[in-house]
Amino acid sequence: MTHTAIDLRTYLDEKREVVNHLIDRYLPPSDTDPPSLHQAMRYSALAGGKRLRPILAVASYEYCGGEDSENAQAIRYAMTALELVHTYSLIHDDLPCMDDDDLRRGQPTCHKKFNEAIAVLAGDALHDIAFELIARTGSTLAVVELAQAIGTLGMLGGQVADVEAEGKPVTQDDVIDIHRRKTGALIRCAVRLGAILAGADKPTLLKLTTYGEKTGLAFQIIDDILDIEGDPDKLGKKVGADTAKQKATYPAAVGLEQARRDADALINEAVSVFAADEENLLKSIALYIGQRRR
Ligand code: IPE
Ligand code: IPE
Ligand code: MG
Ligand code: MG
Ligand code: MG
Repeated sequence: MTHTAIDLRTYLDEKREVVNHLIDRYLPPSDTDPPSLHQAMRYSALAGGKRLRPILAVASYEYCGGEDSENAQAIRYAMTALELVHTYSLIHDDLPCMDDDDLRRGQPTCHKKFNEAIAVLAGDALHDIAFELIARTGSTLAVVELAQAIGTLGMLGGQVADVEAEGKPVTQDDVIDIHRRKTGALIRCAVRLGAILAGADKPTLLKLTTYGEKTGLAFQIIDDILDIEGDPDKLGKKVGADTAKQKATYPAAVGLEQARRDADALINEAVSVFAADEENLLKSIALYIGQRRR
């Protein structure tokens, strides 16, 4: 294993632990009223998960000169907010009225473990805490950034397009548009939040925005590929679900081979925002995303 690969693994492990601690700290205890809701929120948010959005945010923050520590409150609020928003989106995405999935992060989905009403409300509640936390950064810009990324012009608009495209033939451009919004917008936001909170200058913010956009689109293309050729034990979710539901996926539009090539090209474009001889964690994370099997 190369030196960089060891560094990356250590970095991902350390930051994932930080995120787990933060979530545990900021979610209400299970025994506080209403216990069923708090149990469901903790169940889904603490079930594992790669924590890639908060990790991208903190890596971007550090790239821009920010120092992460226990006292770096703003970035840590943002990291927690990003993961809670992501978890909320997964709980709702799995509902019978959406993708109707029974397994998430290796365990029964929230509505299976609890019930649909609690799952809807747990998603809502995670969203609420996320906005409380992002507001605590003290950065109005950060709040606007997150709200816009997950709103009707971003993630939610993408989810609408995704469910409305079910069962219909889609072009490559249609799928790119869906994927940029439903998944790319939050990943782009994660990278931008780190830069914004570190006080990055405009050229750096723009460069990282491009990095976030390319990585975000590649991330969802790879998610689609893994639904075809992934290992369900590693993924912690069922495979073949997209084909069964005739979802608008990138491989459905262009074929598996082309999907793989395009994902690789996007990752290449993402890392190319940095100088060829520059080694940094954002580069390593993008390459890791390009090769991920989980
Ligand atoms: C799954 O996201 C949903 C998509 C947007 C593709 P992740 O693959 O990041 O899921 P976790 O957080 O690691 O469980
Ligand atoms: C999820 O996309 C996108 C959001 C949750 C916003 P998918 O529906 O492809 O994610 P998985 O495959 O269920 O994790
Ligand atoms: Mg979906
Ligand atoms: Mg889904
Ligand atoms: Mg998927």
